[in-house]
Amino acid sequence: MGYTIAEKIIKAHLVDGEMVKGQEIGLKIDQTLTQDATGTMAYLEFEAMGVKRVKTEKSVAYIDHNTLQSGFENADDHRFIGSVAKKHGIYFSRPGNGICHQVQLERFAVPGKTLIGSDSHTPTAGGIGMFACGAGGLDVAVAMGGGAYYITMPQMVRINLTGKLNPWVSAKDVILEVLRILSVKGGVGKVIEYGGEGVKTLSVPERATITNMGAELGATTSIFPSDEITREFLKAQGREQDWSEVKPDADAVYDETYDIDLSALKPLAACPHSPDNIKSIEELSGQKVDQVCIGSCTNSSYLDMMKVAHILKGKKVHPDVSLAIAPGSKQVLNMLALNGALADLIGAGARILESACGPCIGMGQSPNSKGISLRTFNRNFEGRSGTKDAGVYLVSPETAAASALTGVFTDPTTLGEMPTIPMPEAFLINDNMVEPPVDEKDMDSVVILRGPNIKPFPTTTPLDETIACDVILKVGDNITTDHIMPAGAKILPYRSNIPHLSQYCFAVCDETFPERAKAAGKGIIIGGSNYGQGSSREHAALVPLYLGIKAVVVKSFARIHKQNLINAGILPLTFANEADYDAVSQGDALELKDVRKSIENGEDIVLTDKTTGKEIPVICDLSGRAKDILLAGGLLNYTKEQSEK
Ligand code: F3S
Repeated sequence: MGYTIAEKIIKAHLVDGEMVKGQEIGLKIDQTLTQDATGTMAYLEFEAMGVKRVKTEKSVAYIDHNTLQSGFENADDHRFIGSVAKKHGIYFSRPGNGICHQVQLERFAVPGKTLIGSDSHTPTAGGIGMFACGAGGLDVAVAMGGGAYYITMPQMVRINLTGKLNPWVSAKDVILEVLRILSVKGGVGKVIEYGGEGVKTLSVPERATITNMGAELGATTSIFPSDEITREFLKAQGREQDWSEVKPDADAVYDETYDIDLSALKPLAACPHSPDNIKSIEELSGQKVDQVCIGSCTNSSYLDMMKVAHILKGKKVHPDVSLAIAPGSKQVLNMLALNGALADLIGAGARILESACGPCIGMGQSPNSKGISLRTFNRNFEGRSGTKDAGVYLVSPETAAASALTGVFTDPTTLGEMPTIPMPEAFLINDNMVEPPVDEKDMDSVVILRGPNIKPFPTTTPLDETIACDVILKVGDNITTDHIMPAGAKILPYRSNIPHLSQYCFAVCDETFPERAKAAGKGIIIGGSNYGQGSSREHAALVPLYLGIKAVVVKSFARIHKQNLINAGILPLTFANEADYDAVSQGDALELKDVRKSIENGEDIVLTDKTTGKEIPVICDLSGRAKDILLAGGLLNYTKEQSEK
């Protein structure tokens, strides 16, 4: 039986487990990337591991999210990341150099290699034939330290592309069609692989638009073959030596197959408030538009911008529309400046933004109240734009530009003949905003710049033989990660400052918790069913760790949060009998005697309530690897141990 593209790359990088669908596998990671909103914590974690130099082939730290510097916090974070990068062997892409996924594609991504990034749109690099996944900051830190990245062996989905896109129909319309077919849940546990004759009609940046929004399908990743088109792209980036052919075997077997005829597609939009709520622009045609934003890691390539410039050239943006354009990288912006296209954008009345995430992460350009905003981005969840009652529609750059001129939803296929905009034979290569690391021999001379917002990662020790402490907090069912560690703009600049964040831990449930936990120095949390549901936010485990929480005993856990507790070295236990939840009260003194030995030997664990004298059986349900992580005192210690072996 032959292999799919993803299976071939997985096979070449498999370091743990077997390629059996649904089972856990460990992969060797060739490249990593971080962005600043998640990067500060990832680098604090990397530092805490004590590994001197990254062990990947290439790791890159980008600053593209929190580029507004309205206080010292973001600027300090940028300097911290820059200095860590310089010292430990990581390339540093300075603010203004561009959005991580766009720059990664242009300057670093390599076909056939593996990449993980602390950003969910890392699969963008699948457009060049990379196996690229979004991951947690800790996963990235571990991969930089030489550890494997663990995923569940995915199912394989093939999307066969036939035909060729009609003029003014674009790659964005392809992925919106895939979202219409599969929905936002349709990719979970799957790799979406593109093939068929239609592939060769798509450039690498167009392919990357499609794999970028594979994240909205919930897919593990999305991937295209690496072919002659890929070679031409890499050659134009001065990196032809990075090219290799990547394709599936002729007899590869897929779990699901879908066909899309590119020539039958029309311009589409994802309507509020979900990327799979698809309608044709024809259906929406004539409805009023208040704002248009063009850019983001989905649609900010040179070709996208050139098409927009062509549409806007010599025209005027409609007086009722605010048009903001953020070219995806310094390379793109610089090329537009040199060839005059930037003047066309400015001349038409567009507001040119920095090459960064900008409005996509809510950094400015929030729409007006009840405003209709057309965006070339990838997400349109309620409130993400910063205006709760705005309606955000996700569209192609062509639709966005055409609508910016008319002030209403406008089908770009009505624009008439489309000019041929060729892929440049040579992109403008100027990496002077990418700082390389110093040589290993000079690393001691680099001082890490820690502003007051940068606080050390909480340290952990191997699991104690016996845990004896009080119930610091007892909560009910369905506690979310938002209860444990709230998010929000007020807190976002403090992602690298766990002591500051700790003031907000569980504050919505019990505002005295942080103070009591800190005073006690150690403690246990008791919870009900589905504890830790919601996001994958690792801070919901790291902050309790900082506050001294040793164990969490609940009726049941949400899967990802349980993993985050294990990674933080906090013992996750469930009541053998759910009714025992009622037998424990806040303030009770508890003891888990010989808990380390019991876990090592797979013996029953008993929780003794010293206050009531009751003995309560509890369960520690862990796989072999999770058990080792917990015994080591968390994933960082475990990785350190492994790398020293
Ligand atoms: Fe940035 Fe938005 Fe992409 S926040 S990385 S442009 S999804």
